[in-house]
Amino acid sequence: MSGTAVPRIPLLVDCDPGIDDALALLYLAGSPEADLRAVTCTGGNVEARQVAANAQAILALAGRPEVEVALGREGPIARPLVTTPETHGPQGIGDATLPEPRTPLSLRGGPELIVEEARRHPGALTLVTLAPLTNLAVAIALEPRLPWLLRRVVTMAGAFRGDGNTHPTTEWNATVDPEAFAEVLAAFAPERAPAGTPPPPRPVIVPLEVTESHHLVAADVEWIATLAGGGDDPVTRFIRDALAFYFRFHAEYDGFHGAYIHDALAVAAALDPGLISTTPLTVDVETAGRLTSGETVADRRGRWGRPPNADVAVRADTATFHDRLLARLATVAREQRGSAA
Ligand code: BDR
Ligand code: CA
Repeated sequence: MSGTAVPRIPLLVDCDPGIDDALALLYLAGSPEADLRAVTCTGGNVEARQVAANAQAILALAGRPEVEVALGREGPIARPLVTTPETHGPQGIGDATLPEPRTPLSLRGGPELIVEEARRHPGALTLVTLAPLTNLAVAIALEPRLPWLLRRVVTMAGAFRGDGNTHPTTEWNATVDPEAFAEVLAAFAPERAPAGTPPPPRPVIVPLEVTESHHLVAADVEWIATLAGGGDDPVTRFIRDALAFYFRFHAEYDGFHGAYIHDALAVAAALDPGLISTTPLTVDVETAGRLTSGETVADRRGRWGRPPNADVAVRADTATFHDRLLARLATVAREQRGSAA
């Protein structure tokens, strides 16, 4: 059979599944252009070991059990871990259940894996972070050249327009480990580049106000089932059960029966930057505020006198993302019909 080969994008994903992280991993499994090299895990939505087990089980469900999954740092760099079972369920996958993973975890630690892979493939890898930025901050501490060794960093974190989903003005990933996020942003500051070295590529931040410009509802799950050939397959069952919990959570806290799928939008934008519009901004993270710890602050009027250190998404092509999300989840479901999961 002849066909046009799709250029593939080598990716590392750092995550804390998490229902929307799970959908992000399934999205990647359904994306022909995604070359998922490894997944690193950190504590966040649930504890890190549960996160790692979930990541392995989701990849197995998606027919990708060979993808290396590494346990990273289990908690934030300077404060205790807080998890959110009320958002994602006690195991982080809502009402769904998954078989115990059959493959062992990587022998490498998460930050160590990121550093080793970036050194092995300098300038080639895109790192997508969908969790508190603990592993990336530790990786940069291990290898300060990391911002130059990665092709691109895309991160789902932060909130810039006031409304948060954790404290009134703060987003979850930024709030769980604000010190880590602040260290990551400092490492990308152009003024910190060694003399004679060009600045590293600016990380792309996909913040809450952009991920909340799209959501799924129950009818979308039924459409995935239809596209998948009926819905009586393990992937559609997982999506339906995980989202049933997420829909109830959003009904209680956000006033609609549906769910934002933050992390899937971030991976979609990592694969196709045309899905988002960004603006260069100088960004820092509040680590000390009594009410505002974890708040992402953008210096839009140049008061700090520092050049931009991030490209912040300001809007997304949600219609294209929506269609692609449903189609790619259905592709995975169709491909895995009849599997033993
Ligand atoms: C982020 O927080 C987590 O609960 C989600 O998985 C997502 O990464 C959204 O604020
Ligand atoms: Ca997440």
